Amino acid sequence: MKTNAIRINNYGGPEVLEYCEVELPELEENEARIKHTAIGLNFIDTYHRSGLYPMDLPAGLGSEAAGIVEAIGNDVTSVKVGDRVVYTGRPPDSYSEKRNFDADQLVVIPDKIKDEQAAAIFLKGLTAWYLLRKSYKVQSGDDVLLYAAAGGVGLIACQWAKHLGARVIGVVSNDEKAMLAKSNGCDDIILSDENIPERVKELTDSIGVGVVYDSVGRDTFFSSLDSLKPHGILVTFGNASGPVDPFAPAELAKRHSLYVTRPILADFISERENLVEASNELFDLVSSGVIKISINQRYPLKDTRQAHIDLESRKTTGSTILIP
Ligand SMILES: NC(=O)c1ccc[n+]([C@@H]2O[C@H](COP(=O)([O-])OP(=O)(O)OC[C@H]3O[C@@H](n4cnc5c(N)ncnc54)[C@H](OP(=O)(O)O)[C@@H]3O)[C@@H](O)[C@H]2O)c1
Repeated sequence: MKTNAIRINNYGGPEVLEYCEVELPELEENEARIKHTAIGLNFIDTYHRSGLYPMDLPAGLGSEAAGIVEAIGNDVTSVKVGDRVVYTGRPPDSYSEKRNFDADQLVVIPDKIKDEQAAAIFLKGLTAWYLLRKSYKVQSGDDVLLYAAAGGVGLIACQWAKHLGARVIGVVSNDEKAMLAKSNGCDDIILSDENIPERVKELTDSIGVGVVYDSVGRDTFFSSLDSLKPHGILVTFGNASGPVDPFAPAELAKRHSLYVTRPILADFISERENLVEASNELFDLVSSGVIKISINQRYPLKDTRQAHIDLESRKTTGSTILIP
């Protein structure tokens, strides 16, 4: 069986993304075949494309999609043909009309949530879940600093952190994004060209925040450490500006016994019970209106190059989906 999909033969910029016809492999016993209806675009896709996160080439791309189960392998009990499902996981190949995927990693989409919405929030929302509920458990009254607050993960995390009772300080690169982040739960905004630690001190009576969620990486690592109060925790979870350089643990001592963690989503949902727990919590918050979904960009799958150009040049806000 043939399907249309994005393939890369070499690492590089958006120009390496090729839209082509590929052969769909035979279904394995543990797999379901999914006909995609909406595909989530994520910054991690750019790391796979550039080679920052290496893969065997040629390779597909994309780590999140929603769709309909078309066929199941003999051992599959978690889903049935006709189910509307969403997933995130490896290997990257969700930039495709159809794919086969491990059925244990599929989650049935609740009736109240549309396919496009599920594809827009699954990877990003599960990331917000583990950041705020597991990596560092946000408590009511916490001061939280969150980078890329108007981005895909950002808009969900702002709303979720606010719901947990935090005071959310968002970092964004322009006034338009500032307004968007504010309307999604940010209490205060710092523009990325300001002196971030100084502004944080101004906003927190010179104390600093208890936690920083930093997805920018290399460029902001030390600003993030300098924004923390004693014993605070830096959750560095992305590389939008490049990976963080090696650093000396003494940097944590001289800033008063700080903690740093570098988590990845896969480690928090590797057991099905954790995936189900996280999905239920996310879907409940979306269904009850606590978290609103902003799908601010849509591209046909064949125009994925343009989607990558816009994401990397910081033109997008909220979630972006590709339509197969
Ligand atoms: N570790 C994990 O488990 C995990 C899981 C999901 C996502 N992530 C990370 O979370 C981050 C957000 O992912 P997303 O898909 O939701 O993307 P996104 O936030 O929608 O887009 C990235 C944003 O990062 C900001 N940024 C700052 N410096 C940048 C630079 N040098 N180049 C490009 N963008 C820059 C931009 O916002 P401003 O213009 O406002 O600065 C940009 O809009 C990414 O770093 C991603 O790798 C990590």
